[in-house]
Amino acid sequence: MDSKFSDNHELRVLVVAPSGRDAELICQVLRTAEIACEPCATVDQAYAQLALPTGAMILAEESLTPELVQSFKELLCSQPPWSDFPLVLLTLSGNVSLSTQKRSELRQPLGNILLLERPIRPETLVSTVKIALRARARQYQVRDQLEKQKLAEVALRQSEKLAIAGRLAASIAHEINNPLEAVTNLLYLIQTSESMKDMKKYADMASEELVRVSEIASHTLKFHRQPSGPTLISMPEVLDSVLSLHRQRLKSCGIIVEKEYEDVLPVMGLSGELRQVFANLIGNSIDAMRFGGTLKVRMRNVLEPVNGRRPGVRVMIADSGTGISAEVRKRLFQPFFSTKGTTGTGLGLWVSSSIVQKHNGTVRVKSSTNPDNSGTVFSIFIPTEQKSLELLKSEMTQNIA
Ligand SMILES: Nc1ncnc2c1ncn2[C@@H]1O[C@H](COP(=O)(O)OP(=O)(O)O)[C@@H](O)[C@H]1O
Ligand SMILES: [Mg+2]
Repeated sequence: MDSKFSDNHELRVLVVAPSGRDAELICQVLRTAEIACEPCATVDQAYAQLALPTGAMILAEESLTPELVQSFKELLCSQPPWSDFPLVLLTLSGNVSLSTQKRSELRQPLGNILLLERPIRPETLVSTVKIALRARARQYQVRDQLEKQKLAEVALRQSEKLAIAGRLAASIAHEINNPLEAVTNLLYLIQTSESMKDMKKYADMASEELVRVSEIASHTLKFHRQPSGPTLISMPEVLDSVLSLHRQRLKSCGIIVEKEYEDVLPVMGLSGELRQVFANLIGNSIDAMRFGGTLKVRMRNVLEPVNGRRPGVRVMIADSGTGISAEVRKRLFQPFFSTKGTTGTGLGLWVSSSIVQKHNGTVRVKSSTNPDNSGTVFSIFIPTEQKSLELLKSEMTQNIA
């Protein structure tokens, strides 16, 4: 690993020792040990270099001023979470005195630094810098791992979207098929009917069925044509379009739907993503009520009991299905956790909770597997306050960056 120090440009060492030939001599020693380094004549020059990836910095204590300490502190505070930039400080030798104590107080805000007292033995310098670079190399490994994880999460979200799209497509085909079958039958009746009165009746019925088909088409388009930024959303509209697309599945499982919508305030958010959350929750409820049951969808304006009583909209999806056992409950929001074998992806709740978090909202679950009273209630809170919109916007810009 040591020989790689000079190969990896991210592990170069900046050397700031303005007095005499110090910087040059330090660089000579480091280069002999195959450590890439760059002497900097002034602290400002080194500062400019820090814009590029840097392994560590060696700094002579006498170049530290309170202003410099302050700007270093700001720089260290703005590091990404994986980074803990190594700073090697060359201190002045001598006994403890008022001035050495002052210097040590001055460097306090810099936190985690490696101190080397001058005169330094070349071996001590090399081994200290190597320790710093090994630590830095591990930080880069963490950074790379985090990046990979981020990419994998994007891919997972995409695959859940595809799975939902697949399920919706099947559900839509089902939905459209029924009215089309009815229209085919009605057309046959019209063709074979002798009475004008009957013909009119069948034609009216056929046109009602076609209205249903066009409703389904427009709800489907809502899933497809989503605005890319946050907009004002009517939650009843979102819930109704999801329920409408699941109508056939709800009917064929013998599920009764009870809606209780208060006159809720519009929320700011990403309509496509919120639709995805409710499509998943309602899909899960249907899966849990294979042999019938009741699906209650409630919506009201609330002040969240925690988080400083923020105003917002609460949507409750309650089913009288199988309920969730304590074992399943523990792993509910983990990616790939599913009890549905090949028909589940186990990504629905994981994606849903991250979407709700992105809207600064919360998800709560209550469930019972007691056979007399089994069922599950998912409760989603989406805040309506202005501050949440700003957070959502900044989150979106970060995701794009
Ligand atoms: N309403 C519900 N009733 C019973 N179990 C549920 C309900 N919602 C979620 N679950 C359980 O949580 C698991 C994970 O759900 P989810 O993340 O949506 O993945 P998937 O639906 O693909 O299995 C499900 O497999 C199921 O066991
Ligand atoms: Mg699911």
